Formats: sequence, C-alpha cells, structure tokens
Amino acid sequence: MTTNTILITGAAGFIGYHLCQNLLASGKTVIGIDNLNNYYDVGLKQTRLEQLTSQSNFWFFQLDIADRSKINELFTTYKPNVVVNLAATSSKILDFAVSIQRMQKLRLFSDS
Ligand SMILES: NC(=O)c1ccc[n+]([C@@H]2O[C@H](COP(=O)([O-])OP(=O)(O)OC[C@H]3O[C@@H](n4cnc5c(N)ncnc54)[C@H](O)[C@@H]3O)[C@@H](O)[C@H]2O)c1
Repeated sequence: MTTNTILITGAAGFIGYHLCQNLLASGKTVIGIDNLNNYYDVGLKQTRLEQLTSQSNFWFFQLDIADRSKINELFTTYKPNVVVNLAATSSKILDFAVSIQRMQKLRLFSDS
C-alpha cells in the first residue's frame, strides 16, 4: 500500500501540527482539516496553519469532522490512503466543565 496522501484531522492542534510537519518533511502530501474551535487560543492554531500552508504539498480545509457531506466530498476528491484522526476537544477543559456541572447539581440538591 502506498501512503502518499494522508488526511490528518485536528491538523491545527498540537499533535496534528507536528505530525503534519513530519509527514511533509518526508515528502508526503497532507490534507489537513480542523474546525479551529476556540477551546484554546485560535491565534496559535492559525500560526501553526500558516507554517503548514506555506508548503506546497499541504492543503487545509476548515471544517468539522461531523459534517458528513463535506467529509465525503473531501474523500472523493483527494482519495487519502491513510487517515489519522486527531480532532479532539481538550480533555482538561471537558473535565473542568464536567466538574462545574457536578458542583452545580450538588448545589441544587443542597438548596432544595
Ligand atoms: N497533547 C498530548 O500530550 C496528548 C497525549 C496523548 C494523546 N493525545 C491525544 O491526541 C489527540 C490530539 O491532542 P492535541 O493535544 O493535539 O489536542 P489539540 O486540542 O491541540 O488539537 C485538537 C484539534 O482538533 C480540532 N477539533 C476539535 N474538534 C474538531 C472537530 N469536530 N472537527 C474538526 N476539528 C476538530 C481542534 O480545533 C484542535 O485544533 C487527542 O485525542 C488527545 O487526547 C494528546
């Protein structure tokens, strides 16, 4: 199997960006997608993307992996051989949000 065209989701993220850089350096064609959510500094994600998009064998699409029709379109057009799914929401932030929710529920119970 050849692995010339690789699709990386979460390409503007910490791991996605570094993986893209490594793959590009080894001569692969990389399709990056990311929804550029604002769970942390979007400017940082954009700076990473500027470094990736300045390379001729990188294509970026700002889209959500849940957007089935756009994802299908992308697969039809670029026919990636390999997909690495790194699109994710920071677990620390989610943990924090869940903790707040739990605290609010506890408060509701203790208020009643
Ligand atoms: N950073 C680490 O040390 C580490 C260690 C082990 C495993 N991981 C795992 O690797 C993955 C990536 O981690 P990271 O540190 O690069 O996170 P990150 O938040 O820096 O990157 C994730 C990227 O995914 C994008 N994204 C989120 N939801 C999306 C969606 N629905 N559609 C498109 N893009 C979306 C975000 O905008 C972000 O740029 C996670 O699953 C994480 O659990 C990370």
